[in-house]
Amino acid sequence: PRVVFSGIQPTGIPHLGNYLGALLNWVRLQQDAGPKDELIFSIVGWHALTLPQDPRELSRSRRDALAVLLSIGIDPKRSTLFHQDENPHHTELAWLFNCITPVGKLRRMTTWKSRLAVSRNANDESEVDESMLNAGLLTYPVLQAADILVYKATHVPVGEDQKQHLELARDIADTFNRTFKGKSRLFPLPEFVATPTRRVLSLKDPTSKMSKSAPDVQSRILLTDTAAQIKSKIRGAVTDSISGITYDPVSRPGAANLLTILAACTNEEPTEVAKRYANKGHGDLKADVVDAVENLLRKPRAEFERLRSEDAYLSEVAREGASKARARSEVTMQEIRKRVGLV
Ligand code: TYM
Repeated sequence: PRVVFSGIQPTGIPHLGNYLGALLNWVRLQQDAGPKDELIFSIVGWHALTLPQDPRELSRSRRDALAVLLSIGIDPKRSTLFHQDENPHHTELAWLFNCITPVGKLRRMTTWKSRLAVSRNANDESEVDESMLNAGLLTYPVLQAADILVYKATHVPVGEDQKQHLELARDIADTFNRTFKGKSRLFPLPEFVATPTRRVLSLKDPTSKMSKSAPDVQSRILLTDTAAQIKSKIRGAVTDSISGITYDPVSRPGAANLLTILAACTNEEPTEVAKRYANKGHGDLKADVVDAVENLLRKPRAEFERLRSEDAYLSEVAREGASKARARSEVTMQEIRKRVGLV
């Protein structure tokens, strides 16, 4: 049987990239799961703290993330849905993993390197170095490995940007298994599960991914955006001035991104979709993307509006989820503590 684990940071309402790149797969895996398969989905508050957060906003985002996951169809009766920060086993295991993970390996993570690059651009006059970045950013992927492995997860549905972190998690699992040998290897090596849409790009800068942190709010579509907001964001998406539509991610990333989004909505390949627009313009493509995205988000958006005021229900789901998660990870932690000698 499979153990599926995945997580999302509560740093604002999830966007179309999160949805098409990962969350849609969570729901599909839940639908296709066999009776013995386990599904565990987490809102990872501790990861969000690696960047400065306004406490009140974080608290709201944390709750909103739960409401969004319920509204897209995560069923708390079938899946364990919980806040990472309500299960201390994650940090306990992260500490043990920190003690077997070379710093050099963490410095090679592209997310860490891009943090350094960002700081350099923001302040290219003076030398910027690691002293400006907190240690949590460096060990972020170690906590992520603990999230996954504390449930001995076998399958991890995430977007392309998380692939390197997952490789590190496999690496850490393997190192642990070899360092602390027992009768059998303790951790499985978790596998990457991709959606057909691994990477959704920014609507304003199609050379970078759609992200929650980009300053321009027009660059991303939130799962709670109104029909008017969806329309204005897609109409304003950066494309190119070449006439006719072709799927060419390298030289026409803006148009390719729109085709990718449309293809995800219609369950087709972007190249197939492109054929229908060969003799049409960007305006025609955008109009259809607007309709497709609106169709995709209409139901979850209405469900979110209904759920967000259901305080008692949301608290109940979180409480039950956390208690299921803790009971589940306690079993692994007991084995782990025994292997390392903390008994
Ligand atoms: P986060 O919160 O940045 O994103 C949640 C999920 O959305 C995917 N994603 C995208 N996919 C396609 N195109 C995009 N533009 C795009 N932006 C985001 C991400 O790949 C992710 O699957 N470190 C993780 C959270 C995490 C986690 C874990 C995930 C913590 N522990 C354990 C899996 C397992 C993150 O920051 O995701």
